[in-house]
Parts: sequence; structure tokens; C-alpha cells
Amino acid sequence: MTDRVLISELKDHVGQSVTLAGWVYNTRVSARVAFLVVRDGSGLCQCVVGKADVPAEVFEVASHAAQESSLTITGTVHADERAPGGHELHVSSLQIVHRAVDYPITPKEHGIDFLFRHRHLWLRSRRPTAIMKVRHTVIDAIRRFFNDHGFLLVDTPIFAPSAGEGAQTLFEVDYFGEPMYLAQTGQLYLEAAAMAYGRVYCFGPTFRAEKSKTRRHLTEFWMVEPEIAWARLEDVMNVAEDFVCSIVARCLRDCRAELEFLGQDISRLERIVRPFHRITYSQAVDILHGPAARELLERDLAEKQARIEALKTSIPAKEAQRDAAGVKRHVQEKLAAEVIAEREELAELEEQVRNIPTHMQLAADFEWGKDLGGSDETIISRLHDRPVFVTHYPRGCKAFYMKRDEQDPRVVRNFDLLAPDGYGEIIGGSQREDDLQVLLERMAEERLDPAPYEWYLDLRRYGSVPHGGFGLGVERTVAWICGLRHIRETIAYPRMMGRVYP
Ligand code: 4AD
Ligand code: MG
Repeated sequence: MTDRVLISELKDHVGQSVTLAGWVYNTRVSARVAFLVVRDGSGLCQCVVGKADVPAEVFEVASHAAQESSLTITGTVHADERAPGGHELHVSSLQIVHRAVDYPITPKEHGIDFLFRHRHLWLRSRRPTAIMKVRHTVIDAIRRFFNDHGFLLVDTPIFAPSAGEGAQTLFEVDYFGEPMYLAQTGQLYLEAAAMAYGRVYCFGPTFRAEKSKTRRHLTEFWMVEPEIAWARLEDVMNVAEDFVCSIVARCLRDCRAELEFLGQDISRLERIVRPFHRITYSQAVDILHGPAARELLERDLAEKQARIEALKTSIPAKEAQRDAAGVKRHVQEKLAAEVIAEREELAELEEQVRNIPTHMQLAADFEWGKDLGGSDETIISRLHDRPVFVTHYPRGCKAFYMKRDEQDPRVVRNFDLLAPDGYGEIIGGSQREDDLQVLLERMAEERLDPAPYEWYLDLRRYGSVPHGGFGLGVERTVAWICGLRHIRETIAYPRMMGRVYP
């Protein structure tokens, strides 16, 4: 189809006759004119079919063009500020290529489970389209950053014979009769590559058998991991800070329309500039124990309870309006959609309100030595308007490879980067233990058999140097940048416990 024009290119064809190839997104038909909103993957275009302007059979076909039917459509391009995308097509002819019958996702609202069971079709809708564009931009910005800063891409294996991040979340597979695991991280292989090439990164799917259903966990997610030779903790954190700023700046430059469509507050993203906040784990524990954390949760509780009361009156009111006699069909559908959305919001709020006392208790009773939990991270990140580095965690709650701090051997030289607005950890990173003896002691402490790690220990035998790196989760980053409540919408086909279809 070489002679067709993309909707995104219409600005270069104002006044000309062009042919679009796409799908019917939406229709509005009256006696004298049919409006077809057509999508082609590059954008949306309103196509106007005037009964007086086209042969009778063309108007007939246009008036009955069912949602998601595929078609080619020809007409003259007009600039129109009010139209989605800024242009309109005044149609002279059209041809239905395939007629879709009873497309299941209609313009009225559907429940989230229904939408995910139809994910293969839902991808065509505006919200997933906007999110996929942001995801694409985030990934492009990631590659751009490392390629422009002298990092060499080294692809690490997905079949891994041993654990990288703790045995509890390993997925075991049968490798010709031998047990094998799906990679949780490429880091250990990347450390070897850093000793060869200095600055390296890997970027690929990673797998964790997360048995909990949370807003932040997938069982398959994409992680980018840089690793730097001759670097200490502070050097690695500086790279992470520049890196996150560059991703956000790219999204602000290239995805403003998508972010606005998703309802994201652009000014929150514009605040993402250096320097990020830096606190130690011990300071984070003090914050959890302090008055600011308690006040935050008390305020949350009050606000959520007020909203619950409001919903409890508005839902029955809307139901009564919807079911009243003589209500127009489109009004009925709009009310029905709002009722579904408000019911979902109510259920979520009620669950959150049930959880807040637990989160308060967890924060107040938090014991030095434990890893920060999801609700703890939410509290810390909500008390800051820019990302927060939390550094120097107790070594017992972190991976074996992290470097022991010389000043305080109870802690390691690591960091988690918490995104603002309660999104929690988007990056985990550290300086690596480069002393063979200390590393062996740490592995013994974790009851790790050194045999499968001999190659990794070799890096400490032959020219060991200070080095470190981090891993950024693409989906959590996209969820944060788009302002999504749940990570599952950030990947085309999410894999979670209890969700593998389609
Ligand atoms: O903190 P993690 O476990 O760090 C590592 O894997 C290190 N080997 C990285 C390194 O130093 N090279 O994971 C890094 C990031 C997290 O901050 C989070 O963004 C993401 O990966 N992540 C997940 N994203 C979605 N679902 C999950 N189950 C995730 N687990 C981790
Ligand atoms: Mg982590």
C-alpha cells in the first residue's frame, strides 16, 4: 500500500486528496452526514462523509461502518483545530476491507478484568496506545543514554544455572533433564563484562516467581542494568541520577500529548531534576518512626473516608437516574459506565482504608535490620517531591554481592531509588564486594555453595577493582511517569500470578 498516507503525516497534505488505510474507531451518523473516526496506529482522524458529497452507496456504506472494521478511505485534508489530531478528511470514497461484527470493546466503560481478557484487542484503544508510546520512548531514552555515554551492550543469558537475587523467586525449567532457572538479573555476567570492557549494560526480560499480587510486581519484566569498572557507590548513584533525569526529559519532550491524555500532572515530572534526595536506611527508619509518617497516613485515612462517603451517595443516585423511565440511550450508557468506574474506585478505596492502620503499625514498629516493605517505601517517597536515594541497608536484607561498608560493617554500600508520589523502588543498585575473602564469608553466611559461582569469584582473583551498577525496572518507571495505579498496564501482555491469557 505505497500510495497511502499516515494520519500522522496529514499536516503535510492540507488541501490535497489522500487515501488513509485504517480501522473504524468510532462513528456518529445523522441523516445528512456520517462522522467516522479512523485510526491507523499513527493517530486518529475524523472523516466526514456528507450525503450530498458522495454517491448514495458510499454514504450507505459509511453509515453502517461497524466499529473496528478495516477500510481504506479517500478525501481532501482540511486543517481543523477542534478535530483530534488537528485535521479532518472530507471523504470522496471509501472501501470496507473487512467488516467487523460485534467488536467486544465498545465506547462505554468495561471492567478491568474484561479488558485484560481482551488485551489483544484492547491494545487498539487510546489509553493503551498512549502508554505503549511512553514505554517505547522510555526504552529508546534508556538505550540512547547508555550508547551516548560509552557503555557497551552485552546481552546476558536468560537460562541461568544459579540464583542472582535470592532463591525464593526462581523459576525452574527443565534443561535437558537438568534443573535450570530463568534469569532474575544479568548482573553477575555483566560484572565479568565490565572487567573486560569497562562500562557495559544489558537490557532484557527478567523473571521472578513473585507469589504476591501487588501493583508493583510482574513475574516477567524488563530490566536495564549498567555495570561500571573503577566506580564507587557515589559514582554509580550519580550515573543513576543523570539517567533518570534524561528519561523523564525525553518523555516530556516526545510524549506530552500522551501524558496529558493519561491525566498525568506534567508539572510533577518537570520537577524531576538533579539533585535527588539522599538519605541512609537508618534515616529512613527514623522517618517511619516519626510524626510526619503518622500525619501523612492519618490525612490519607480522612481523605479516603470522605471520598467513600461521597461515592456511597453518588452510586445509588446514578443507578436510579440510569434506570429511570425515558432516559436516552447514550445517557444511560454514560451513567452505566460511570457506575462501573465508581464501584471499582469504591472497592479499591475500601481496601486501602482497611490497610492504612496496618501500614501505620508497620511503620511505627519498623525494626532496624528488616528490608523496607512496599508501604514503607510509599511513605518515604510521598514525603519527598523528587526521587529519593536510600543508601546503606543492613547487609542481612540485601543480596550477597553488595560491598560491605568499611565504616560500618553492619551495612552495605547500596542504594534503592524511590520514585515520588508513592511509586516506590524503581532502581536497585550497589557497589560490589571486590574482596575475595569477604565475598566468600558473605556467601557462607547466605549458605550459598561457591561451586557454581567459581567463575564469578575469578573476577576477584584476577585484577579485582572497585565496581558497581544498578538495575532499573522498565515497567515501574513507565507506571510512575504515566501516573498509573498498577504496573500491569505498562506492558503489552502482562505476566502475573493468575494472569497469563492472552
Ligand atoms: O532491586 P533488584 O532486585 O536489583 C537487581 O536485580 C540487581 N541485580 C540490579 C543491579 O544492581 N544490576 O531489581 C531492580 C529493579 C527494581 O528496582 C524494580 O524496578 C525492578 O527491577 N523489579 C521489578 N519490576 C517488576 N516486577 C518485579 N517483580 C520486579 N522486581 C524488580
Ligand atoms: Mg531491589
